[in-house]
Amino acid sequence: MDHLDTAALSARHRHLIDTCQPYLMTARSNLGALNLAPFGLAIREDRIFDPTRLSSGPVIEALHAMDAFSFGDQAMLMPRWVLFDCGEFPGLIFGFGRPARDLPVDVRRAYKVEGRRHDEDFIPLSMWIAIRCAEQGAWFGHNLASANLVARAEPLDGLATLTKAFGLLAARAERQYGATQWASASLNIHLGLGRMRLLGAYTPAHTHPETLVYRIDVDPERVAAPLKASWRRRDEGGDRFVDADDTEAIKALHADLEAGQQIDLLRAERRAGLPNRLWLLSHPG
Ligand SMILES: CC(C)(COP(=O)(O)OP(=O)(O)OC[C@H]1O[C@@H](n2cnc3c(N)ncnc32)[C@H](O)[C@@H]1OP(=O)(O)O)[C@@H](O)C(=O)NCCC(=O)NCCS
Repeated sequence: MDHLDTAALSARHRHLIDTCQPYLMTARSNLGALNLAPFGLAIREDRIFDPTRLSSGPVIEALHAMDAFSFGDQAMLMPRWVLFDCGEFPGLIFGFGRPARDLPVDVRRAYKVEGRRHDEDFIPLSMWIAIRCAEQGAWFGHNLASANLVARAEPLDGLATLTKAFGLLAARAERQYGATQWASASLNIHLGLGRMRLLGAYTPAHTHPETLVYRIDVDPERVAAPLKASWRRRDEGGDRFVDADDTEAIKALHADLEAGQQIDLLRAERRAGLPNRLWLLSHPG
């Protein structure tokens, strides 16, 4: 699927595409392997940044500002060398942004670019950081964040979904792996973009053991689905669930996965005042 039928887009995603520009941060040696016009939307040459260039400095500072307001309270703030060694250089950072002059005051404040001298700085408003795996065609989703968290005056609804969808195509990913906390609000974003096959449910190797590991086999038609006006999020189905804070159920699920059961994460049920309930679907055999 090379192009997205813009007439079929939801109003919120069309608004984002009309008012924001795609950008890419990666070592220039990677460019030949990437799709610089995901879904037919070309990334402008001056929105492609090489992390080894000093001129990329303002964008890199803005990425760290976004990381701070997105992950600072989750004990997952990235040291600068981690962003460089694991994301900016070997992988890709894809997202959407705007020049600072086109941003509302609350967003400029969050990025610390309030002064007039920053007016022309390009500010990334979202980022999907992905790292190439050794497996051919496979990428690991290292980070997803969106300024929707701080954009109170002019909400950017749908931005993280749009970002990951276009990022998957920019990477030419055939398979995407990821590690996400059971309590994360991002699960619904990942769920929208493809079938999530669980590889692990309990991950003491991670900072947060209650982290699930998943694989999505990337199908561009399926990736585009949540960007369309006709799209409806699944709200039923599943033969088993875990609540996001139920460590014992998470460990039991992990034991079943290690024993060889094939299980998909199907949907996240939001419950007023309670942790999300995550519905699963087991495959026979
Ligand atoms: C999580 C985050 C990326 C979402 O960004 P966003 O631009 O608001 O995301 P979108 O608007 O594209 O989509 C959010 C979807 O999740 C849903 N959602 C929001 N909060 C949720 C929650 N607590 N539980 C389940 N779903 C939730 C929204 O309703 C929306 O679904 P919809 O498309 O059916 O309306 C952003 O809040 C963020 O950067 N958070 C901090 C960093 C983080 O935790 N990242 C995820 C780790 S991988």
